[in-house]
Amino acid sequence: MEDKHFNIRVEGETTLVFKPEGLLAALVCDVPDHQVLQDANDKLYRGVAKNVPTRISALGVPSKYHTKPDGTPELISRPDRNHPRYIYARKYARDGVMGALDPTTNKAEYARIKLDVNDIPTAFAHAELLRDVYAEYAPEHYQRQMEAIAKVHPHWAMRGLPFTTATDNWCFPTYPHVESGDFKPGLGIITVKYYGACPYSWLVLPRYDLGILVKAGDVLLVDVGNEVHANTAIPEHDGYGTTSGRLATIHYLRPKLANCGTPEEESRRRELYLAKVAAKREARQRARRRCK
Ligand SMILES: [Fe+2]
Repeated sequence: MEDKHFNIRVEGETTLVFKPEGLLAALVCDVPDHQVLQDANDKLYRGVAKNVPTRISALGVPSKYHTKPDGTPELISRPDRNHPRYIYARKYARDGVMGALDPTTNKAEYARIKLDVNDIPTAFAHAELLRDVYAEYAPEHYQRQMEAIAKVHPHWAMRGLPFTTATDNWCFPTYPHVESGDFKPGLGIITVKYYGACPYSWLVLPRYDLGILVKAGDVLLVDVGNEVHANTAIPEHDGYGTTSGRLATIHYLRPKLANCGTPEEESRRRELYLAKVAAKREARQRARRRCK
């Protein structure tokens, strides 16, 4: 998306935007102590955002069945690696997760914690500050989210907060998409920091002709679980992806974690899953040996 794709601009001033169903977004500017906490978590978040993104909806890249070296099609579809948006993402964009993830089909069929925010005081303090902003500016969504997270085993939650998970994005201007794994009656909490000479990227809600600019120190509460959103493109420039770039965090609740078990139960599921994968691999190798 580009600047020309929206007409209503919200930036630099605390602003609440409503849709007929309720709050669409709240940009809260210059939250006291926020920049200090963003700076304190700088290296951590940059380190978390280390993977080439695979979420094809946010990449805006069609998925297809690639061919294995032996000429047969893969069983799982993957992003089209020759698509220009995939090539851009592979070169610059990185993402990663802190907190809990519910089971992923064919990948990790058990709940797990990628990086426990409860054990990292600076990251936990940041999540607490975001909770405070959330509770103040979107009390109804906050209340619903707190009720929902009470159904999740505490192991999978950020202690006492309405979040199970935070995603870190580096240089990842997303294509129009809706979050599939978020708690729909709640909101996603977004923070952003720019490095070097990186141009600003607006968060766009195309249905509302609206663009919102989040700067360091700001907090954006936004209905990313129900509304199509995207970022304006960031042009390639000197140092982009290394010394120059845009780092965003999104704190949210993954409600499917309420269906997950205790850490012990999920670790047993992990063992069963790993055994299943190993058995499949062995069967494939046996079949290959028979063919020779
Ligand atoms: Fe998103």
